[in-house]
Amino acid sequence: MIYFVTGNRGKFEEALGILGEVEQRNIGYPEIQAEALEDVAVFGIWDVLKRLAGPVMIEDAGLFIDSLRGFPGVYSAYVFDTIGNDGILKLLDGVKERRATFRSVVAYGEPGMEPVLFSGELEGTIALEPRGSGGFGYDPIFRVGEKTIAEMGLDEKNRISHRGVSIRALKVWLSSR
Ligand code: IMP
Repeated sequence: MIYFVTGNRGKFEEALGILGEVEQRNIGYPEIQAEALEDVAVFGIWDVLKRLAGPVMIEDAGLFIDSLRGFPGVYSAYVFDTIGNDGILKLLDGVKERRATFRSVVAYGEPGMEPVLFSGELEGTIALEPRGSGGFGYDPIFRVGEKTIAEMGLDEKNRISHRGVSIRALKVWLSSR
């Protein structure tokens, strides 16, 4: 059984769909302001390991919009909580170049072991308007093909998503030990 430390139920459900043996723990950890998701994840997992006798995992994600030079990136949580999806759509009003990438970094640790990282990406475009009611966060404005992620079911999102890729990489690593 792995403890997934997150306050985000959506993330947990996605991990559960892939790993099966995972339990949510909402005990928080410091999310440092760094330039890379990897740095945030490494700092976080060491903090979690001090308080929870592993196996433990955390995950840090971000939305990187090409025409905004990667913004909101590592600031994705703050930007979502302040200007939200409507704010992102306003920033891109009239902008034709709408490519964006979701990135996910999973950190996994056990007591007495150096933590390991797994990453995943999903390329798409920012929609012209929000669509769909599934998922969470930026899902209603992130398009892959004809659908936004919020118009996909959990399994469909997991098959293609940044987090699906990073968590499956963890799963492969765990089963190859
Ligand atoms: P964090 O990884 O929890 O720091 O997420 C950063 C921000 O990106 C939060 O506002 C999340 O809601 C959002 N976010 C993270 N993962 C996803 C996703 O899979 N889809 C849509 N938004 C996401």
